[in-house]
Amino acid sequence: MSGVRASVLAASNRGPVSFRVGDDGSLEARRGGGGLVSGLSAAGGGPDRRWVCAALSDADRHAAREAPDGRLDLAGLDVGDQPVRMLDIDPGTFSRAYNGIANSTLWFVHHLMYDGSTQPVFDAHFRRQWASYLDYNRAFAEALAEEAADGATAVVQDYHLSLAPAMLRALRPDLRIGHFSHTPWAPPDYYRMLPDDVAAAVLEGILGADRAGFLTDRWARAFADCCRAVLGADVSEDGGSLAVTHRGRTTELGVHGLGTDAEFLRERAYRPDVDARRAALLERIGPGRKVIVRVDRTELSKNIVRGLLAYRELLRRHAEWRGRVVHVAFAYPSRHDLPEYREYTAAVQRVAREIEDEFGTADWSPLILHVEDDFPRSLAAYRIADVALVNPIRDGMNLVAKEIPVASENGCALVLSREAGAFAELGGEAVPVNPFDVDMTAEALREALEMPDDERAERSKRLAAAAVALPPQKWFLDQLEALRHE
Ligand code: G6P
Repeated sequence: MSGVRASVLAASNRGPVSFRVGDDGSLEARRGGGGLVSGLSAAGGGPDRRWVCAALSDADRHAAREAPDGRLDLAGLDVGDQPVRMLDIDPGTFSRAYNGIANSTLWFVHHLMYDGSTQPVFDAHFRRQWASYLDYNRAFAEALAEEAADGATAVVQDYHLSLAPAMLRALRPDLRIGHFSHTPWAPPDYYRMLPDDVAAAVLEGILGADRAGFLTDRWARAFADCCRAVLGADVSEDGGSLAVTHRGRTTELGVHGLGTDAEFLRERAYRPDVDARRAALLERIGPGRKVIVRVDRTELSKNIVRGLLAYRELLRRHAEWRGRVVHVAFAYPSRHDLPEYREYTAAVQRVAREIEDEFGTADWSPLILHVEDDFPRSLAAYRIADVALVNPIRDGMNLVAKEIPVASENGCALVLSREAGAFAELGGEAVPVNPFDVDMTAEALREALEMPDDERAERSKRLAAAAVALPPQKWFLDQLEALRHE
């Protein structure tokens, strides 16, 4: 690899850009959305920055192969003008690591998603996936080691890359290494469901970093508890900050609660494409009706089915709301290579049809459900929300809970799961729910719908203020700062 080496590097499975083949057969680049892109772009542009990510599709792999030195130059795409190195990982290896270990095993463990019908089986098939997860993490560690200047800072993101920090340290002991978990962390009794060697390797992988970051204190403590229970590591606490010492090395644990990018959101949500979709939605909803909005990936942890059941319960119990409220539910396709996710999408659609059949009338549709991706349409829904429903069974943070109050036009009441990381910051102004309790959620929806206008507007303002407290730019720069000064 030739060219300038980087002093600040980031690594994540999903990068700031994805490619698709356009109608004329050429590759089109698209900027990725989300807090990570805003946060990492904030590290500034220039040739001494680098973002290492995986090629996720054939088009991505094609682009990665064509890039000089493997680095994509994305100037003009508004991703901080930093060169991106997209790793062309063998598709089978990628799928076993991403679908098999990251999304089927680690995601399920951290979100406590195993139940009677989805118990893990750790067998030869799993071992093959685990071997690929090692290869995939090694590819990242090697790319980072190659790209990093002497003494550079590298920040590795999420559960896809839990082994990379230790692998990178072995290759480049001169670097400052951070890891950040965007998910919850499982409590030890649940975490120990993993095979012993895997449970230990994931923890030791992250402990290869100088600093491990989490979205809330609760997840940081769960990680420390796992280190103690699984590795017998020593956990110390100094003024509320945790540190884990294992085999003579200490890793500091940091808590950085990612907030929403208010500037971007407010500007984007008032563009003409969003205005058009807002008008179309209002037309379908009909005049004078209250609007309950939810927007999620179609993701089992988001608890969309129970949310729909709670809405049905509201309409059953409180007949006065029939005809006066519409639930706008946008659930975008996600991880559809996994059968659990395809079945979940079907379950969401089934319950939605049942609600329509039970309550729909000639001039009132109780529910508008979409399961295709349309970002401007989501923003339009944000703007017209009277109530936001965010009821995950467990969530690292949940940015939608922060985005809706920021974008809503008249202020919205937030029905929020106490198992979302965002609850630590927003819980005081939200209507709290136990995500498993459908009855409680139905009553919370009613309370939110009946909240007096002035109270709703006041609470929404306070929610919006809390939501922007740690914008992605500051979230990332704070981590860099802490890492450099340890
Ligand atoms: C979560 C993870 C991210 C991931 C995102 C979307 O927020 O923490 O790392 O990128 O879900 O999932 P996907 O599998 O589509 O990248």
